[in-house]
Amino acid sequence: MTDFEPKIVGFLCNWCSYAGADLAGVSRFQYPPNLRVIRVMCSGRVHPAHIMEAFKNGADGVLVAGCHPPNDCHYISGNLKAQRRVALLKMLMAQLGLDPERLRLEWISAAEGDKFARVIREMVSNLKELGPSPLHDSEAVIAGDD
Ligand code: FES
Repeated sequence: MTDFEPKIVGFLCNWCSYAGADLAGVSRFQYPPNLRVIRVMCSGRVHPAHIMEAFKNGADGVLVAGCHPPNDCHYISGNLKAQRRVALLKMLMAQLGLDPERLRLEWISAAEGDKFARVIREMVSNLKELGPSPLHDSEAVIAGDD
């Protein structure tokens, strides 16, 4: 499945990971163009329903990225809430027949543009191995698709 290009939805916290993605761009770190970014104020703002909606609408993988625990979250403990939610959702995904590896949680600071680029490269590589999501809805389109 070498021509499969996975679609990734990334929920990036405004204060750390979105800035890290911006730094990756400014620094010209190379990463594949498979990511569609949704900027959120905090990773704790990402509800499991948002993640499942992304999968339902055609995402092959979802990234939730926020500020490093324990103290970098601008809303005190939103990152820890995200950590608990992602762990629970991964268990549910396994029950639904959706490989939990399709969902990834990362802590990426505003200074870690290189880490951001590496995470996206790794996700694309892993998702190519996994193949298209079994939840693909043929009528759904993520912005940027042909
Ligand atoms: Fe970044 Fe909460 S503000 S994870």
